[in-house]
Amino acid sequence: MKDKIKRIFREQFLKEPLMVFAPGRINLIGDHTDYNSGFVLPAAINRGIFMALAENGTDSCKLVSLDMGEAVEVNLKNSLRPTNTGWANYIIGVMDGLRNQGLEFNGFDAVFGGNIPIGSGLSSSAALECAAVLGISRLSGNEISENDMISIAQKAEHEFAGVKCGIMDQFASIMGKEDNAMRLDCRSLRYEYLPLDLKDCGFVLLDTKVSHSLGNSQYNKRREECCEGLNTIRKKHPKASSFRELTMEMLEDSKNELTEKVYNRCSFVLEENNRVIRAGAYLRSGLGKEFGQLMYASHEGLSNLYEVSCCELDLLVESARRLKPVYGARMMGGGFGGCTLNLIANKGKEKSISQLRQSFETAFGRKPGVYEVNVIDGARII
Ligand code: GLA
Repeated sequence: MKDKIKRIFREQFLKEPLMVFAPGRINLIGDHTDYNSGFVLPAAINRGIFMALAENGTDSCKLVSLDMGEAVEVNLKNSLRPTNTGWANYIIGVMDGLRNQGLEFNGFDAVFGGNIPIGSGLSSSAALECAAVLGISRLSGNEISENDMISIAQKAEHEFAGVKCGIMDQFASIMGKEDNAMRLDCRSLRYEYLPLDLKDCGFVLLDTKVSHSLGNSQYNKRREECCEGLNTIRKKHPKASSFRELTMEMLEDSKNELTEKVYNRCSFVLEENNRVIRAGAYLRSGLGKEFGQLMYASHEGLSNLYEVSCCELDLLVESARRLKPVYGARMMGGGFGGCTLNLIANKGKEKSISQLRQSFETAFGRKPGVYEVNVIDGARII
């Protein structure tokens, strides 16, 4: 992939490019907790975005997406605004963020492509933002901290793609470490690496290939519902300034003032946070059945209380539950489609994968995607 993108860049722009790679991520457990001041447990994976860039001596930038077969031209003399071309907005958003931090850059050309399925919950958009922020800042000789890169990438998603995402995906793409998950406190941004012991079992993704068109607006809606819940509870319990201070008792105490939906959203967030904390402890003693049970519980909450699953994801998780070698399975990421993450014992892995495939095909008449992933380092110049 790297060589292909480099070759195409050279052919089109007759220059030697700077090459960048930024990974996508899996999230072992802890979804929809990041924007609620909670904890997450992601890891960067060996699928992501490769980008070739070089300055062009002009005031404009040519951005080329190989996978989409499209190009967009951006004039740097004008103020930067979202365009009608979805993928370009992630890069233009990053350019705008760099500018707002006073990090100037000259006109450049960029060609990018990836081996990360789009809309599958593996954070292809964060990978693109992170490749862009690392590539453009390096090209212009600007030193920029990892924290700044992460927040510029996240802001691009908020302001240019309209998704009020949390910090997890961009953090994982920049800070990933080979064979380690990261336990991130999304409030303080303190984190620790937790080694993944994958001798006896491994992670396998099953892709429903469902990409829900309402995903983004529903995502923002969930965020608002959590906010609404917190604001209501705070009237009675002023100490609950974020979900971190919120307790089950406070939530129960305010139950009558909350709609059932908002109550469910809040109780999911509290429970999921608790699961991340317990999962971190299990991880220290090795991945296995206990960890897997938390994954199943996470899925149940995401499906029933947070309502971000879909029938394809539910079927994959239900089928996984019936297979002994599958320790745990859950939908992952924003939801409404995308992948399930499955923790499967090495012994019996192939058979389990083919049984899961079969159940999906019988129910929906088409094949799911199957990806075995490795955990690797975060974004870098290659
Ligand atoms: C998306 C967002 C993340 C996070 C997950 C759900 O991937 O980008 O910030 O909220 O959904 O955990």
